[in-house]
Amino acid sequence: MSLAELRDAAAGCRNCGLYKDATQTVFGQGPSHARIVMVGEQPGDQEDKAGEPFVGPAGRILDKALAEAGIDRSTVYLTNAVKHFKFKPAERGKRRIHQQPNRTEVVACQPWLLGELSEVEPELVVCLGAVAAKSLLGASFRLTQHRGEIMDLPDTKSKVTATTHPSAVLRAENRDEVYKGLVADLVTARRSLKNAP
Ligand code: URA
Repeated sequence: MSLAELRDAAAGCRNCGLYKDATQTVFGQGPSHARIVMVGEQPGDQEDKAGEPFVGPAGRILDKALAEAGIDRSTVYLTNAVKHFKFKPAERGKRRIHQQPNRTEVVACQPWLLGELSEVEPELVVCLGAVAAKSLLGASFRLTQHRGEIMDLPDTKSKVTATTHPSAVLRAENRDEVYKGLVADLVTARRSLKNAP
């Protein structure tokens, strides 16, 4: 299937129960033959409403980190391991609190992610956080042990690396340090490209 066909099919996805409470499927976005695909965890509150990945607070951190690492966001295909927002309502008020997708939900969503990767055929896949990394590299993958390493992505011609999720920067006590680690990993990612820009 082409990216457009995948997007249309994913819009009606019922592979798991997350479609019931989410506003819409948030499919990937970016050039169809991007050299880099970045994979986040799942859309957040703002992405769920907008229907686009990384447009909320995590997206703003990612934008800043990409700019510092010398990567032009408009050249990157951005997507998520899980394409519906998983949340629970706050006890009071209307806020929706993010909940991490479980393994069943991640696996249910894999056909869309793998479809995107086989269409885009990127040189490098950058997993943002452990959920994305485990979706592509297996449940036993440990981000703490392999962060920033450039590896082969099994069954593809792509390389893969995994780094910190931009939201982890927002949550960290040592924000500056975590942010610098993210930027350093993105620089490593850029330099790993052939004829690195
Ligand atoms: N966090 C993600 O992992 N993906 C998004 O699209 C937004 C926030």
